[in-house]
Amino acid sequence: MRPSAAEVLGVPVSLLQSGMGGVAGAELACAVSNAGAAGCVGGYKLSGEALSAILGRLAAGTDRPVGVNLIPEVVGPELLGRQVRQVLDETPDHVYLSLFGVPDDDAVLERITGAGRHLVVQVGTPEDGERVAGHGAVVVAQGTEAGGHLLGTSTRDELVGVLRARLPGSCLVAAGGIGSPDAARRALAAGADGVLLGTAFVVAHESRAHARFKSAVAGGKGSETVITDVYEIGWPGRRHRVLATSVTETPAQAKKFIGRTVVEGKPYLVPRFSAAVPTEATTGRIEEMAMYCGLSCSDISGETSAADVVAAFAHVLPTVPSVENS
Ligand SMILES: Cc1cc2nc3c(=O)[nH]c(=O)nc-3n(C[C@H](O)[C@H](O)[C@H](O)COP(=O)(O)O)c2cc1C
Repeated sequence: MRPSAAEVLGVPVSLLQSGMGGVAGAELACAVSNAGAAGCVGGYKLSGEALSAILGRLAAGTDRPVGVNLIPEVVGPELLGRQVRQVLDETPDHVYLSLFGVPDDDAVLERITGAGRHLVVQVGTPEDGERVAGHGAVVVAQGTEAGGHLLGTSTRDELVGVLRARLPGSCLVAAGGIGSPDAARRALAAGADGVLLGTAFVVAHESRAHARFKSAVAGGKGSETVITDVYEIGWPGRRHRVLATSVTETPAQAKKFIGRTVVEGKPYLVPRFSAAVPTEATTGRIEEMAMYCGLSCSDISGETSAADVVAAFAHVLPTVPSVENS
């Protein structure tokens, strides 16, 4: 029998929280892991002291498996290499690595698994899934229902089904549009061994999303999201699903600064069309910024704790009770 995501990652519940740049800091990741699922911080473009700071908080906040998410296509091979080295050097062995998309060079994958770390890679095509499974990664199949940047053009359960047929023995996790236990059940029925949630954790108390972003997700419907490419400053060339805004409706607007934010103590101006999400440290025209959001928002109705999100899904997912008591 193939292993569940919980068995592979050493957590009680086969539920992964997406490492969301800006939104998923150490507080959210540790809360999710301490509640029995696999939490993850968004590493995004952080490096050097800023990355060290978040890694330190992560290691201090939980002794359970927890992850660091990196995005190869955003940072490029040189910075990715430095980020990976830093995570491997500065974190204990129970910290796993999560990648959004497949890096050009498979050597990065080998370096992570060769260091004895678990590797989770999100993909949008069967070919990418096969490639990373060949390196022992947990494969996250992302469907177009997902909030955030989109790696492929298939719907979630379509991709899960194809990958399951091609990779009968691999650990496969479904992502995209999962906001309710029923949606999780459907993904498992399609062949997944666990699920990954992003949008459902945006509204957690521990998430760093701006309060207006959280209430827009909680009050939003899937039909109010759009797939667009307008929020391209900082991450060009990849389509993303966001809540519709005046910027997605009328993209012909001036590229002027519409706000300010702070990342690990450093101030930044936020231009219109920036790929950066509005966080609790962001001020300005929040309603014009990139509010990544999946179709799953239709099933999400209010702010809640990370532990409550995990509890709401745990009863329908594969679990490993013995891990809970260890
Ligand atoms: C606000 C937000 C930010 C995201 N940022 C990242 C990221 O930094 N890295 C990543 O691997 N995926 C990121 N994602 C995509 C998720 O990994 C995942 O594909 C998606 O959340 C699944 O669909 P759902 O939002 O309907 O649960 C983000 C998603 C959201 C909603």
